[in-house]
Amino acid sequence: MLSRLLDLHGIENVVLECKTRDYIQERVRAGVLEQGTVELLSEIGAGERLQREGLVHDGIELRFGGQGHHIDFRALTGRSITIYAQSEVIRDLIDLRLADQREILFEADVTSVHGLESTEPRVRYRHDGKDGELRCDFIAGCDGYHGVCRTSIPRGVLTEYERIYPFGWLGILAEAPPSSHELVYANHERGFALLSMRSPQLSRLYIQCNPEEDIGEWPDARVWEELHARLAARGWSLIEGPVIQKGVTGMRSYVVEPMQFGRLFLAGDAAHIVPPTGAKGLNLAVADVHMLARALKEFYSSGRRELLDRYSETCLRRVWKVQRFSWWMTSMLHRFESDNAFDRKRQLAELDYVVSSRAASQSLAENYVGLPIDD
Ligand code: DHB
Repeated sequence: MLSRLLDLHGIENVVLECKTRDYIQERVRAGVLEQGTVELLSEIGAGERLQREGLVHDGIELRFGGQGHHIDFRALTGRSITIYAQSEVIRDLIDLRLADQREILFEADVTSVHGLESTEPRVRYRHDGKDGELRCDFIAGCDGYHGVCRTSIPRGVLTEYERIYPFGWLGILAEAPPSSHELVYANHERGFALLSMRSPQLSRLYIQCNPEEDIGEWPDARVWEELHARLAARGWSLIEGPVIQKGVTGMRSYVVEPMQFGRLFLAGDAAHIVPPTGAKGLNLAVADVHMLARALKEFYSSGRRELLDRYSETCLRRVWKVQRFSWWMTSMLHRFESDNAFDRKRQLAELDYVVSSRAASQSLAENYVGLPIDD
């Protein structure tokens, strides 16, 4: 995404991708795009298939006490979300870059970054059995939580903020038409469940589980049984189908401050992780690179550094609001073993308040569809 934005601003850039093209195009990841993300993808020429195949949703359902409650994003905010898999976004962006005869070095293993405080930082990598060194003006560290960039910043510069949740999500992809026309977030005594989708033929479903859950203990029949129990609602039934993918994700909130050091700028998971509830991870990464592209455009067109200098500060304002929202959704919907009967009642009251107060449902809606990008 950053690469495409820079291309459009006439800024030369090199993409070093550690995985294979197939891996990143196939890996099952997020699926919810905020309206601002959809608009940006469309503006940069990556919206054609998205417009055709993306499923536009005007709301979500919160389900608790065996009853569903519709949160109407369109009525509350005038905006919507689009279901379109992250892997498809990646595929469209790769196609665009390669169609422009611009390169992506796949399976390029970045080993170290140097000279971050100089005007010519360097990236060392291994590609095709050969060592390479890239000299550049700036490095964008879009290399995820486990990447090389963040950990190359000298000790003492960064402050980390973290919360680990005592549960994970077990997710399945099933060849079954979605049992509901919109996403269903369910709070249940047995734990959280989520019904999502990828297409009119593919359902994506999740259940709260132990963070170190052994997937071997979850044959398909057990997963379906749990989904039936947790998603149960009067007059509604869950459609089953062959499970084609299954996996467990841990859940954490993480932020590093600042998101820049010298000429290195961190973006996405390299700088922050959100728990998945509310589907913010991809959208937050998009907001980061949007800011970074803007700042680099200003630098190259006028030599001004103001936006670059303020990159971290600008991004972090949004990051913390999105952290707050993801933490809040997670807290409201999951079962915490440490909760007592009071906590449980309070959690249900929170849900009741959200679905019955216009102010509260509007707050959920405006965060879910996405806060303004240049906030
Ligand atoms: C999906 C993931 C989420 O974290 C979420 O809140 C909604 C949907 C999904 O993968 O479809």
